[in-house]
Amino acid sequence: MATLAIRVLPDPVLKQRAKRVKLIDSSIQKLISDMIETMHAVPGRVGLAAPQVGTLLRVIVIGIPEEEDIVLINPEIVRRKGERSVTEGCLSVPGYFGEIERAESVTVKGRDPKGKEIRIRASELLAQALEHEIDHLNGVLYIDHLESMDKLQKIEPEVAQL
Ligand code: NI
Repeated sequence: MATLAIRVLPDPVLKQRAKRVKLIDSSIQKLISDMIETMHAVPGRVGLAAPQVGTLLRVIVIGIPEEEDIVLINPEIVRRKGERSVTEGCLSVPGYFGEIERAESVTVKGRDPKGKEIRIRASELLAQALEHEIDHLNGVLYIDHLESMDKLQKIEPEVAQL
């Protein structure tokens, strides 16, 4: 396992669409374990998407404190319900946070590292993290959801970094 460098703006990799994983081989397993190690090495982190470590593949990891880590390959949001305002930050946009609209709950399907199809119904922080990380796979950052860049604020330590 290795800790990977996290790409930050204006790195162009963050604005590109990631490709679907066709085969979960040893290189994907290594990517997953490196992403988990990288995520755990950053205080306050909640999730990480492969483009953030420079790999344009549809892989995300989520690590909410006190809960089991989640790995999703080729994740897709199949249902969104409700709307709410959330405060959000991103490891790739260091030093800032902003308030945006996210769904109240989402249903996401994808594959686990063994290739088994899984479906997750989530609300609260997990729903927010899933939407945030899946956005990364489409080259979308939370700041793209801001009404204007004037709404971006300097970081406060308690804001979740997704
Ligand atoms: Ni992010």
